[in-house]
Formats: sequence, structure tokens, C-alpha cells
Amino acid sequence: MTVPKEVLDRIQKLRDEINYHNYRYYVLDAPVISDEDYDALVHELKELEEKYPETITPDSPTQRIGAPPSEKFRTVPHHVPMLSLDDAFTPAEVEEFDQRIKRFLGTSEEIEYTLEPKMDGLAVELVYENGMFTLGSTRGDGFNGEDVTANLRTIPAIPLRLLSRHEPIPELLEVRGEVYMEKTAFARLNEERSRQGLPLFANPRNAAAGSLRQLDPAVTARRPLQIFLYGAGRVSGHRFKTQWEMLQTFKKWGLRVNPLTKKDKGIKKAIRYHQKLTEMRPRLDYEIDGMVIKVNDLALQERLGAKAKSPRWAIAFKFEAAQGITRIKDIILSVGRTGAITPVAVMEPVKVGGVTVSRATLHNEDEIRRKDIRIGDWVIIRRAGDVIPEVVRPLEERRTGRERPFVMPEYCPVCGSRLVRKPGEAIYRCPNPDCFPRLAKRIAHFVSKAAMDIEGLGPRVVEQLITAGIIRDVPDLYSIKKSDLLSLEGFAEKSAENLLQAIENSKHTTLSRFLFALGIRHVGEVTAQLLSRRFKTLDRLMNARREDLEAIEGIGPEVAGSIVKWFSEEKNRNLIKRLLDAGIVIEGQDERPGQLPLQGKSFVFTGSLSSLKRKEAKELVKSLGGQVQSTVGKKTAFLVVGERPGSKLAKAEKLGVKTITEQEFLEMTREKR
Ligand code: IVH
Repeated sequence: MTVPKEVLDRIQKLRDEINYHNYRYYVLDAPVISDEDYDALVHELKELEEKYPETITPDSPTQRIGAPPSEKFRTVPHHVPMLSLDDAFTPAEVEEFDQRIKRFLGTSEEIEYTLEPKMDGLAVELVYENGMFTLGSTRGDGFNGEDVTANLRTIPAIPLRLLSRHEPIPELLEVRGEVYMEKTAFARLNEERSRQGLPLFANPRNAAAGSLRQLDPAVTARRPLQIFLYGAGRVSGHRFKTQWEMLQTFKKWGLRVNPLTKKDKGIKKAIRYHQKLTEMRPRLDYEIDGMVIKVNDLALQERLGAKAKSPRWAIAFKFEAAQGITRIKDIILSVGRTGAITPVAVMEPVKVGGVTVSRATLHNEDEIRRKDIRIGDWVIIRRAGDVIPEVVRPLEERRTGRERPFVMPEYCPVCGSRLVRKPGEAIYRCPNPDCFPRLAKRIAHFVSKAAMDIEGLGPRVVEQLITAGIIRDVPDLYSIKKSDLLSLEGFAEKSAENLLQAIENSKHTTLSRFLFALGIRHVGEVTAQLLSRRFKTLDRLMNARREDLEAIEGIGPEVAGSIVKWFSEEKNRNLIKRLLDAGIVIEGQDERPGQLPLQGKSFVFTGSLSSLKRKEAKELVKSLGGQVQSTVGKKTAFLVVGERPGSKLAKAEKLGVKTITEQEFLEMTREKR
């Protein structure tokens, strides 16, 4: 079948438009059409390509994920070696660098430098041949890297074809940059992994590296990766005069360049900008570990040349790291609500970045072995941003021989059950549902505010009740007697009565609270509310089929599977029966009008958001029951103000509509996500 010319033209037009809007969105951070209009373009293109599959080309914006999983990565050479940078830690060292350059060039004139945030991610090289993205690789040892083309193709900010609107494209461009994960995206990813009982990533850098080195590109595609480009390898068909001009040209080609990049004359200005970046650092949504200073003039760069491992024309002016040194006294195991066992380092307290730290998660046994961390070791501790402290590495030179390697116990340190480790998982679990910390956390969850809301029954009291043998499981809560409470430390007549009354009151509850309280894997507050709204009664939900659940927007196969499995288990059905027998009454409807956290609230967005896409933000609002409007009105609850806001801001101020920052928006939706 031949493809009609009109169709071919339309397909080309659609691709061009989509590529242009990607560029506006990802590179300029200034979209010019609405998400809906953008989706419509993609939808139309997909339909045409489906009808005429012979028109599909690898650079079509629909073709980001496609490659099947591979068995291992191919090695590819870097034609121009990917060097590293010398470090400087003090202004004096940076001045010395400037002096060296002047001496080398035999000049006393001030040098012009580019000043670039040093991204803490992983370096990659992208090859564009006649504008087409043909090969992408990791840095590897600088000479050879791994072919991760299929994975890089899934990163939306990487153009599959360079834009030629503003600047002709070169025959060959090897462009270099840093793949990273935004802090907020990292936090979300880890939250999700924690809900799924998967091992957590230690920091955004590890998360980005782990995501890029996935053998299955479909996995990478689900990870929120980003990129900034900052350098070049071989280039033919184009000449750059300066580093600055090169970066400006990258942008015209649709390649993302860090907007905090500057150029300035003289090293004093560089030092000042480093100070400024230090101050900005905690507020950035990505991790930087310093500022790279580069001689701007490429001809001068050429004259300066390179040493074995690093160029003479650049230096990394590092930030003082939030690091500390201390000793590991012990490695203990903590048991989570799902039974996951996490080794935790107990350390001599040490101040790191202004906070005293005495514990750090070691994630899992493999991680301890990989870093060779031993009990008694002196270690470097790091706190990156608001991330939990981590052990960077042991100081081997301080070892005395008395350090003991950590051995993962075979049995649960609390209940003595044999620990299990599923194939392919890094985590050991205690399989005993009644293991003390598991039980205590399960009950504490059941009574918590968002669940059954029993006031006065915090984790400490729950532990007391279990220890005293008063309760052995959730339903026992409802047969606690006053004399039981009076036998506990800290309880008197009045407080015992209050607690009993609170327990009594909790018997009248709503379906969503009850479902959330059960602690079914993947059923958080929002999912519980979705289920309650759809099924109305517990009975109907208990008899629902997988398909019925999956048909609900916001519930995927994994969640549906987990729910069906939970209700199919005898012991869980029994638990429900015991709770109902104890007198719990589930009202059909939720009593609260705002069943969903943002129910009845309308949001408007202005300016560009830095940590999530406009579309994601809108979906988030909708999934929490809120509405999204395109214009500010009197009924607007919040105007979310991104960078470079438009006229909506003035209008909101005039109407007295509350404005919130992106950060506040994220916080508002955080615990609900
Ligand atoms: S220039 C020869 N610019 O830092 C020049 N590197 O130690 C070498 N990095 O492997 C790279 N941000 O992963 C350059 N704006 C930036 C950078 C940057 C981060 C990383 C890169 C490289 C390492 C050098």
C-alpha cells in the first residue's frame, strides 16, 4: 500500500511540531501549548503511524521505547577520551589555577571563564550523525564506555533528532553531559519502592546510575531521568570559538544546558559565583558537588592542552561536603512493618552538616559487602541534602585488625524465625506476621489518625499493651478492659477511661478508613478512598474480581493483584470477621465531604515547574480529588506559581487567591501521594 502524500506531509508536520514542543518544554522550560493540545498531536501521530507502519522511522517521537531487553552492554570507544577534572577546595587553590594558566599563556590579562554547576550524576556521551541520535554511552574508564543507547532514548529531554530551525546541524556531533535524577523525583521513586518493599536507593546519583544501567529499557523509561549537556568530543561540520558559544548552540539544537551557567572575566568573579552557588545549592532540585571553571576561548584551551587524566584549562571548585568521620559501634537489624530487615549502623554521634548523626541505614547485606563495612570501622558519613545519612566508605588505613565483618543472621533477632530472601531481592524478611516490631507497627498503623483514629494510642502504648500480653492482634484492641490499662505504667483512672472511650468511638468508621487501616500492601489513603467510592460496601469489595479493580482509574495491575490476594486469604477474612464481631460498624459512605484530600479544591498553574511536568502535577491534583482550571477565578483555591509566572499571578493577587510555590504544592500533596 502506498502512503498518500497528504498523509506523509501530515506525519512530517506532526513530528516537527512535537519535536519543537519538546524543545520548548525540556530545553527552554517555556511551553507554548497546553498539555492537552500536545497530547492530541502525539495521539494523531500515533494513529497515523499505526495505520501506516511503513512510515515509522527511528527518530519519530513515538519511538522512544522499543528496544527489547539486552543481555549485556556492548563496549564502545570514546574517540576523544572523556577526561576528569582536577579538584580545588579553597579560593587559594582556584587562584593558583588562574595563575598557572596566565603563566602558561604568558599573559597578565584577566582570563574569561565559563562557570558551570558541577552536576553530581553520571557522565555520558551522545553521538549525533547528521542530526540523528545514533549512539549513547557511559563514561566507563574514559576511553571505553558501555552502549546504553536504548536506555538514553527513553529520556524525554534527549532529542532523537537535533533541531535545525535556528542553526544548521553538523555532520557529526559527539556531545557530553551528565544524566541525573531530580531530588523530588528521587524521593518519590524511593517512596514508591518503600511501599513495594523494594530496596531503596541511597541517593539520587545511585538511583540515576542504577536506572541508566538497566538491561531492559522499559525499566529505564519508568525512571525519571534528566540530562544537562556541557561539552563535546568530535565535531565535524561546525566550528565553535568558545565554550559559551558552544553551549548556546547546543540549546538551539534542542540540547539541555544548565541555566545557571555563566561566563565572566577574572577569577575573583568565579570565586564570588561559587559562593552564590553554595547558597543556592540546598534550594536546587538536583545535586551539585561544585562549580566547574573552564577557560572560555577554545583556542586557548587547545594551547593549554591536557595532562594524562585532566585538562589544564578547567578545574572543579568543589563545595565543602557535609561529611563526617566516626566509628561504627555495632550493626543492628531493624524490622519493618512488612517484615523487611534493614541493617543499621550504630555510630559514635558525629556532627554532619549541622546535624548530629548516630545511625545510618546500610540498606542491605550486599551493600555492606560491596563497601566492605565492618563493625569497629572508622567510616566517612555523608548527608546529601535532606537524604538520610549514609556510610560512604570505611577508612581502611585506620583498621587495627579488631574489626569484625558483618554476618547476616539467619534468624530474626526479635522472634527467632528463619529469615527469608526471595530470589532476585536484596532484602531479607522476617516471615512471622506476629514478630514484635511487625505486630507493633501493624497495630500502630491500624489505630493511627488517618486510619481508625484512636486518640491516645500511640506506638509506645501499643508496645506496652503487647508486652503486657493484653493484646496479641488488632481485634484484641476492642476487648481491652479498664483494669488492663490501670495495670500499665502511665495510666490513671481518667486516662484509661479516655482511651476506652476513644476505642469505642472508633467503632463507627468509614469504609475508606477501615481499608487503609488493614494495612494491605499498596493500599494507601488515596487507593482506599478510590475503592470506597467505587464499591461502597466492604462486601462488594471483598467479592470484586481483579478486572473490576483494574477498571478503576488510578489502580494498576499490581495494586489490584495485591488487594485480591489479601482478601482471598483465610486469615485475613477471619481478621475482618473478628473486627466486625467486635462491633465495628462501617458506614456505607464516607462521612467526610472531602473524602479525597483535595476534594472540591481547584488549582491553577502558572510558570514552569522544575520538579515535575505540568501534566503530572495536574494528574496529581485530579487523583487527589481536586480540579484543575486554566484561568484564575474567585473560586480558585490555589495558584501554583512556577518559574517565570505569567499574568495569572497578578490576577490572583488582585482577586485575593492564595498563591503557593512549587515546593509548597509538593508538600501539600506529599503525604497523599
Ligand atoms: S567537563 C575535560 N563540566 O565531572 C572536562 N564535567 O571530574 C571534563 N561534571 O566526568 C568534564 N558537571 O561527570 C564538566 N559542567 C560540567 C560538569 C562535569 C559535572 C562531571 C563529569 C565528569 C566529572 C569530571
